[in-house]
Amino acid sequence: MKNQEHLSLSVLLLLFAAWGANGENILVWYTEGSHWINLKPVLETLVDKGHKVTVLVPSSSMFMNVSEPSRFGYEPFNVSFSLEEATKFFEEYLYFSMYEIDHLGYLQMYIKYMDLMKLDLQFSLKLLDGVLKSEKVMKRLKEGKYDLLFSDPIYPGSDLLAEILDIPLVFSLRFSLVHNWERYCAQLPAPPSFVPGAMSKLTDKMDFFERVWNFIFYALQDITIYDVYWKELNRYYSEIKGTPINACEMMGRADIWLIRTYWDFDFPRPFLPNFIFVGGIHGRPAKPLPEDIEEFVQSSGDAGIVVFTLGSFIKNITTERGNMIASALAQIPQKILWRYSGEKPATLGANTRIYDWIPQNDLLGHPKTRAFITHGGTNGIYEAIYHGVPMLGLPMFADQPDNLVHVEAKGAARVLNMNFMTTEDLRDAVNAVINEKSYKESAMQLSRIHHDRPISPLDEAVFWIEYTIRNKGAKHLRVQAHELTWYQYHSLDVAVFFLFIVLFIMYLFIKTCSFCFRRCCGRKSTTKRKAE
Ligand SMILES: *[C@@H]1O[C@H](CO)[C@@H](O)[C@H](O)[C@H]1NC(C)=O
Ligand SMILES: *[C@@H]1O[C@H](CO)[C@@H](O)[C@H](O)[C@H]1NC(C)=O
Ligand SMILES: *[C@@H]1O[C@H](CO)[C@@H](O)[C@H](O)[C@H]1NC(C)=O
Repeated sequence: MKNQEHLSLSVLLLLFAAWGANGENILVWYTEGSHWINLKPVLETLVDKGHKVTVLVPSSSMFMNVSEPSRFGYEPFNVSFSLEEATKFFEEYLYFSMYEIDHLGYLQMYIKYMDLMKLDLQFSLKLLDGVLKSEKVMKRLKEGKYDLLFSDPIYPGSDLLAEILDIPLVFSLRFSLVHNWERYCAQLPAPPSFVPGAMSKLTDKMDFFERVWNFIFYALQDITIYDVYWKELNRYYSEIKGTPINACEMMGRADIWLIRTYWDFDFPRPFLPNFIFVGGIHGRPAKPLPEDIEEFVQSSGDAGIVVFTLGSFIKNITTERGNMIASALAQIPQKILWRYSGEKPATLGANTRIYDWIPQNDLLGHPKTRAFITHGGTNGIYEAIYHGVPMLGLPMFADQPDNLVHVEAKGAARVLNMNFMTTEDLRDAVNAVINEKSYKESAMQLSRIHHDRPISPLDEAVFWIEYTIRNKGAKHLRVQAHELTWYQYHSLDVAVFFLFIVLFIMYLFIKTCSFCFRRCCGRKSTTKRKAE
């Protein structure tokens, strides 16, 4: 009796605590690298607002350590490959993107890229096995009573899990790199005449041949992605569910798509009610710098400083390239803070300091900052836009070349190719970005647009997640396009119907004419014959 009372009291207390916090229970799909950096501020805000956030973490995770204390709950799962194998594959991909790609013909590049994509999918499916095929993990997830699944779909399968757990799904992504998720699966309108394909390196202003290329690009994308991605995923999903499943259709059932760009950086395009553009989620004002860094920054005088990073993934570059970059930087009047953990270049100038880590956002927000040399990751670009800093782009891989095409088209950046640039190219480009007024002005303009919105991107992302939980999904924002066939979507059946009507009217017209013609002429010829 005593025990029972005790038990019901604690249950009551637990219920009360849950009710008191008014928190929802949010499950987060596993991810890595910049994708995780992007989700984190949203998750932190959700925790601040009293929600419970639990992140799925694979045993092979590069970025998360479930033993470390954290504000998020972790749901660990085992995968059949090691962190070393994953790292090795990633390095191969980096090497291909950074060095090989510029020296291959189109066909070789395409074949190699497709091979890498297939391998990548195999890794993704092994990760997925760790969740969906583990009775232990699935049992825990079902017992977890989650209210929503939040996911960056870079690792596939979250849509299937949301379906199995029967909970709403919110996606967050920059865009689907080489894939066709938004356009093909989520029905986001993308007229090839003015919406450049992701990774095509085109802008929204295309001449005739660029439009031809963009048109072909979309078609090629749909065909190749089906072959290397959807076919395999359909097989996998069907095996798990035991009935034939179209994985692309399942992805299209996501309630909300939080796209991590905005009209500062992206080209204007048509969109759907369940697409929200939240670029710049992690933007925040600069904090004071650590003392030693501040001292170095102040020593730059009126010339100011340049911030230089190639992102969290690039630990070292070749010695030759390192020397070339260092000697170019040695020739500019600014002081340079270079985030780099590779071997120290021999040609490093007295004006350049190398750091293992830099407080990038705080540096970009410093009044002495004149330019940002970047690999073109969205996070860095958004920090630069937030603070209005002009950029010099040295794109490496993934979405980086395309990102920098955007900033260049908006006038706030210059872009060089790491593999072909010379010391002079780099020196002149840095000088141009700093000294030609147009770069700074364009960067300031982007910054104004970025800040001039009714609600901050972070609050907007959080709002839509809470909205989806409150309304138990957002199916009311879903366009009927999902239910149409491709010929209905393009009204081809209606066009064919009209064509038939027109043909029928023409037929009637011709018939009537020929009838009248025969009547008149027939009579004439008989009168003629009579006269003869
Ligand atoms: C994870 O964190 C724990 C506790 O801080 C530490 O002992 C362990 O070495 C870490 N593991 C990795 C792989 O970093
Ligand atoms: C992962 O593997 C370890 C060691 O084999 C085991 O102790 C643990 O329970 C497994 N975790 C899950 C979630 O299956
Ligand atoms: C980077 O460093 C590692 C280990 O120090 C080395 O094995 C590798 O060759 C280096 N890569 C480049 C591109 O220099």
